[in-house]
Amino acid sequence: MSNIQETIRSGKLPQHIAIIMDGNGRWAQQQGHERTFGHKNGVEAVRSIIEGAGELGIKYLTLYAFSTENWNRPKEEIEMLMGLLIQSIHNELEKLIKNHVRLMMTGRLSDLPESCQNALQDAIDRTAFNDGLTVVLALSYSGRTELTDAVRAIAQKSANGEITPSEITPETISNHLYHNEIPDPDILIRTGGDYRISNFLLWEIAYSELFFSPIMWPDFRKENLFDIIYDFQHRERRFGKTGEQVREQ
Ligand code: FPP
Repeated sequence: MSNIQETIRSGKLPQHIAIIMDGNGRWAQQQGHERTFGHKNGVEAVRSIIEGAGELGIKYLTLYAFSTENWNRPKEEIEMLMGLLIQSIHNELEKLIKNHVRLMMTGRLSDLPESCQNALQDAIDRTAFNDGLTVVLALSYSGRTELTDAVRAIAQKSANGEITPSEITPETISNHLYHNEIPDPDILIRTGGDYRISNFLLWEIAYSELFFSPIMWPDFRKENLFDIIYDFQHRERRFGKTGEQVREQ
């Protein structure tokens, strides 16, 4: 284990890290390749980050792999990404199982092609009882859609007389999101040099520490993740309180 890993492990670890994996297309184009070449190379970054998060003992890692808006991309790119997902699951599943990784997804599974749904569901089922790192793939995910689905479910309960409007609290909303059992992210990372949230986990990142990296996703490695976690451990999270109040706790 490297020095920085030892140092991080002796500090307070984030429970949940969420990542917007951006920059695949530009990385490929900068080298005169098709955008899809960037996605293929992005898989190596995914592998490195899962490995690094697992080594540190992080509990949850959420990866934004495909947004609802990504359906508007060229058909060939979408097909390639779905194929890459199936192929990656196929190639990596045994290793994930061996490393006690549990795979989950967030988003609308039913939007995905059937072959993709089957591969994912099989991997989710076969890793369901693993107790190491949980990797959550956000696929056909949109933060606004997740909130809309929660509002619909709560409205339905209200119409059924199960809850009154005045009983609805922020906890009620949290409890109706896709995965209320997962703690909110402590860290949100976006690679690729842009400063946007792009409809990712809008409710859940209310108090996340934000990190924007200029590194394009295919070049991102666990060492870059460790640097970010080290910075995180030196930030003061006040959750609306004063610095003095937090330090007295
Ligand atoms: C954003 O880069 C990336 C994606 C839309 C896809 C992410 C997919 C992978 C990293 C590979 C497969 C994933 C798994 C989990 C096996 P972009 O194309 O928007 O880049 P750009 O901003 O440079 O155009």
